[in-house]
Amino acid sequence: MAQTWNPGSWRDKPILQVPAYPDADALRTAEARLASFPPLVFAGEARKLKASLARVAEGEAFLLQGGDCAESFAEHGADNIRDFFRVFLQMAVVLTFGAQQPVVKVGRIAGQFAKPRSSDNETKDGVTLPSYRGDIINGIEFDEASRIPNPERQIMAYRQSAATLNLLRAFAQGGYANLDNVHQWMLGFVKDSPQAERYRKLADRISETMDFMKAIGIESESHPSLRETDFFTSHEALLLGYEEAMTRVDSTSGDWYATSGHMIWIGDRTRQADHAHLEYCRGIKNPIGLKCGPSLQPDDLLGLIDLLNPANEPGRLTLIARFGHDKVADHLPKLIRAVEKEGRKVVWSCDPMHGNTITLNNYKTRPFERVLSEVESFFQIHRAEGTHPGGIHIEMTGKNVTECTGGARAVSAEDLSDRYHTHCDPRLNADQALELAFLVAERMKGGRDDQTKKAVNG
Ligand code: PEP
Ligand code: CO
Repeated sequence: MAQTWNPGSWRDKPILQVPAYPDADALRTAEARLASFPPLVFAGEARKLKASLARVAEGEAFLLQGGDCAESFAEHGADNIRDFFRVFLQMAVVLTFGAQQPVVKVGRIAGQFAKPRSSDNETKDGVTLPSYRGDIINGIEFDEASRIPNPERQIMAYRQSAATLNLLRAFAQGGYANLDNVHQWMLGFVKDSPQAERYRKLADRISETMDFMKAIGIESESHPSLRETDFFTSHEALLLGYEEAMTRVDSTSGDWYATSGHMIWIGDRTRQADHAHLEYCRGIKNPIGLKCGPSLQPDDLLGLIDLLNPANEPGRLTLIARFGHDKVADHLPKLIRAVEKEGRKVVWSCDPMHGNTITLNNYKTRPFERVLSEVESFFQIHRAEGTHPGGIHIEMTGKNVTECTGGARAVSAEDLSDRYHTHCDPRLNADQALELAFLVAERMKGGRDDQTKKAVNG
């Protein structure tokens, strides 16, 4: 696009999903304060993530992206962050082992607050109020005062993101992620589940390998890659006033970066080519995600790719397919073919959550078997097309919640009310997340074995 871009040029475009802030002055004041705050992430880190994602695009690495549907102010605490990080590390280890490839770790965390909604209003017992749009905008409590968008919440979300990121950096770099601790990442309530046994066996093999490497002089103390990990943050760039305030010029390259998180994505409801969210995202240099749902046609996708990645740089764009277990086979192959035909370098990732939401006993839930089924199809389709199934994008928590039905412990429709804590969509609990990781690892291993067979048999 020849038009000039600046961090605020989205303001001249049509936009969906905007909260109705009653006090424009208060909103401007909050945004000005945010603009004066330090960045949460640095351009160099976003470039490092882009380089890692470029390896995924080339078929040499795998992307694991996951976390809450919506972070909340009420559940902000060290235990939650630690428990999430533990399960995430476990999943990453399982996947690394299965894929025999590096796993790029990206959390939906430290900024994942704003939510798109299918309706502007919510009605309960004859009372209609504005919908909850995430803690960065309004409160989840069903009363008039809570539901009024409040700009002060943006400042609170910024501060919570900074504190979360600080702890995550400490965990990733400060020794917690040391492979010597591979047994300790197991969470108490997972310990007696079928996944625990599988994980323990794998952890034993890793420990044995570590002992062997120690014996030949390779120790975690002298090898940072055994002791530390790269962990990146991501969120949906929905609330553009907040994103604009956090957009900064990188002094080394002169380029604009979103400093609210390493990677940001565009939601399925706000990906119109001529709208504000596309306009904002096309001008920043971070890695970008694009949610691809059933309404996306191949030509439209190519147009969006042109806008977001005109130089066709691998690692810049991740396409996050979220069709539903029964729709993925109808939609994904034609998108892959269009992208391949035009030679566009993208990461293909599978979000098996957002196309598989149903309501049971008045709870929004996701049957785990449908989640697994969409992931299975995603792998099969990529194998058939000869493309790299590059990653998964999931909603998960380290807590022992009952939000998605099924899994090895068979959460039933009746169980949903036991520990249903999400502020938005239902998340996989630690057990289910690990079970999914094992399934993906098996599929990755299957793909590797097929390639080996091909190479051997010619
Ligand atoms: C989400 O990731 O929480 C979300 C709202 O997804 P989508 O835009 O794919 O519906
Ligand atoms: Co969600």
